[in-house]
Amino acid sequence: MTPALTVVTFDPMSEASIPQIPGSYNLVTRKRVTSTNDALRVLADNGAPEGTILVAKSQSAGRGRYGRSWQSPPGNLYFSLLLRPDCPPMQALQLGFVAGVALGDAILALVPKSVSVQHKWPNDILLDGRKLAGILLESGTTASAKLDWLVIGMGVNVANAPQDMAFPATALAAHGYTLRPSDLIAPIAHALSRWIDRWRKDGFATVRSAWYARAYRRGQSVQVRFEDGAKSGLFVGLDDDGAMLLQTANGARERLSYGAVFPDIQAAG
Ligand code: BTN
Repeated sequence: MTPALTVVTFDPMSEASIPQIPGSYNLVTRKRVTSTNDALRVLADNGAPEGTILVAKSQSAGRGRYGRSWQSPPGNLYFSLLLRPDCPPMQALQLGFVAGVALGDAILALVPKSVSVQHKWPNDILLDGRKLAGILLESGTTASAKLDWLVIGMGVNVANAPQDMAFPATALAAHGYTLRPSDLIAPIAHALSRWIDRWRKDGFATVRSAWYARAYRRGQSVQVRFEDGAKSGLFVGLDDDGAMLLQTANGARERLSYGAVFPDIQAAG
């Protein structure tokens, strides 16, 4: 038997009101977890439905892409959404971009037009050129290799930004926005719901166009860094699974599925 899902109301001791999320979503809150992705995965394994959101005030072992640690003190947003997409795992990679566009829309609605919000490949959000938020997609498959669950984890620097990052980071507070992390839950959930519906109806093309409209350094030269080296070239665009299309100096077009994007200093200098 599947244990009943406990939906905890939003912490009334510190929050003024319960975020008004879409009716098809439900919100679980925790004070401290290792990682909201892990805690939500446990709920998924116990039968939690698509649309379950788990938010925690802090994480003791928050992680980013490639197993890097994600600093998770109280004051920032740690948010994970559970989906059970009925599509091949490769196609589900597009959901990182769906989530990125949704998060970008939610942030854009909070900040003045003079502030730039950009998408840095694959799933980062930049505010005036500095990293404000990151997204980590994790999934599990059934014995027959079908997707069972997919968790979209988002970390948004609301009060604090980590220092000394290879790519500089920022926080909403550094731009003068005094928000509580919980203020972001409803706007992000509504934007996710809208964009996931659109992706299901119209496919990846609309999402990719929206991502391109705010893309960091698309059409410009970039350096993509890996653990053991780097590649430079022109950032042409996204392939159908979200891979980066990079045109290198010899004119060849390469597909990159991982790496961290930086401006290509040599090409600029
Ligand atoms: C990255 O930029 O490398 C992705 C960072 C993703 C961080 C979020 S915070 C909520 C969720 N829980 C985690 O442990 N990671 C994601």
